[in-house]
Amino acid sequence: MKRFIVASLLLLGFASNANAAVIFAGQAKAAAVCSQCHGIKTPSADAPFPSLAGRDAAYLESALKQYRDKTRKSDIMNAIAGSLSDADIHNLAAYYSQQKP
Ligand code: HEC
Repeated sequence: MKRFIVASLLLLGFASNANAAVIFAGQAKAAAVCSQCHGIKTPSADAPFPSLAGRDAAYLESALKQYRDKTRKSDIMNAIAGSLSDADIHNLAAYYSQQKP
């Protein structure tokens, strides 16, 4: 885990600074909350959790907002998205969209 964070920080050093802050915040949240189910990159093939890496940021952002306002139903994701702020959602979408699937 430590090595993953160090490597990511090095990679982020080459990304543009404004983006880096957003992506880093998203990564911290993803590692703490989402990765248990969605994995850092791709969950194992038979896992019931959809992969998020490399998905369109706008898609991820709207999916999370739909889970938050419960226009998209999922007991698990409604509970999780309910505690996310707009900034969290933006950061998470930016982070996952930047990951190579
Ligand atoms: C306890 C397991 C669990 C955790 C933790 C979790 N998810 Fe999910 N997530 C799911 C499941 C199950 C689905 C599929 C739900 C459905 O059928 O809509 C899903 C679906 C999604 C989708 C929709 C993907 C698609 O293909 O449309 C997004 C986006 C998503 N999760 C983002 C997140 C983010 C961001 C976090 C962290 C804040 C997170 N999830 C944490 C289990 C989890």
